[in-house]
Amino acid sequence: MSEAADPTPHDGGLLPDSQGAPTPGHGYLAAEDYLDQLVAELDRVQAVHGRLVLAAGALQQPAWALNIWIAPEVIAIASIADAARALRARQRNWVAYAAAHHRRTRLIQDRLPHVSAKPLAFPAPAPAAPLGSWMLLARDTLLAAPRCTSPFPHGEARFVEDRAAPPSRAYLKLWEVFTRLGVRPAPGARCLDLGASPGGWTWVLAGLGCRVIAVDRAPLDPRVAALPGVEARQASAFALTPAAVGPID
Ligand SMILES: C[S@@+](CC[C@H](N)C(=O)[O-])C[C@H]1O[C@@H](n2cnc3c(N)ncnc32)[C@H](O)[C@@H]1O
Repeated sequence: MSEAADPTPHDGGLLPDSQGAPTPGHGYLAAEDYLDQLVAELDRVQAVHGRLVLAAGALQQPAWALNIWIAPEVIAIASIADAARALRARQRNWVAYAAAHHRRTRLIQDRLPHVSAKPLAFPAPAPAAPLGSWMLLARDTLLAAPRCTSPFPHGEARFVEDRAAPPSRAYLKLWEVFTRLGVRPAPGARCLDLGASPGGWTWVLAGLGCRVIAVDRAPLDPRVAALPGVEARQASAFALTPAAVGPID
């Protein structure tokens, strides 16, 4: 039986390796500690390299993938300079994923144009430039995807954090949602935050100038409850009626 017909996840290897040939599928990058969940979720897994799972066939949309490498190519390279040349020939911006060959990966990446890894200052828009991902499958073999689904390195959105004002780090989730979708409520929008305590999301919405009804059985952080536009209601969300809330944007 050929290797391709007998996929064995978790042990790497296993790819067709003609020069510049797209793999017959896509690469799915798991979040740290969630590789098993991603592998279980994907159909037609062919190989696993670190946290990157290669799966054959059409693009899948697994919930556990942080980033998807679209149709990565396998590229034979003769040297570090050759690798950098091959990547630059395909596009400008690359981020390296080093599952192995760490030093060689760094030497190649050092020869590529610098990609800013500066955290975003919310509500700045997500980077618009395409960001490719690459890795070394072996000393002489690149796997490179000029296109990925996320504009952030390895799918991880990083923000300039506010460590003083918000009551917890939950605000980062809402910042990421608004940034990834490119939409957010307009100033003055009426918002309803159900299960709002301690108030991270309400803090985000108030910061955008929204009017927020924040409902939770537990109290809101008093600093959030005191923000302009915030109305805190300590009650069960299940007891709410549309009439008690009014129109919501
Ligand atoms: C993970 S916390 C929410 C964190 C919040 N989004 C933030 O940004 O700070 C979940 C909250 O849901 C609240 N909750 C659960 N069931 C509820 C209910 N039936 N009515 C109101 N709040 C509820 C809990 O009291 C808890 O504060």
